[in-house]
Amino acid sequence: MKLDDELCYCFHVSKRKIVNYLKVHRPRRPSQLSECGGAGTGCGWCVPYLKRCFDQAQEGKVVENDGISVEDYVAGRAQHLEERKRPPAGG
Ligand code: FES
Repeated sequence: MKLDDELCYCFHVSKRKIVNYLKVHRPRRPSQLSECGGAGTGCGWCVPYLKRCFDQAQEGKVVENDGISVEDYVAGRAQHLEERKRPPAGG
């Protein structure tokens, strides 16, 4: 994923917005990234990715192109949404 790719599809927040937010606001917890356009507060799919960006910023090394393909990311989210729709087993 590159800077102009969307990171939170629920709220259309790009990776660039998150990276800038991390630089400018220096949040102390990953959950504070929700203040950046609501990122991570929808389906939850992007939360691990937000945490990763947070950790990278803490270490002072934001990876602009991390090698994760947008196609895989989008497909993973679609599957995540499908799984959320299913009723719990045995219920
Ligand atoms: S993709 Fe970010 S909360 Fe759904």
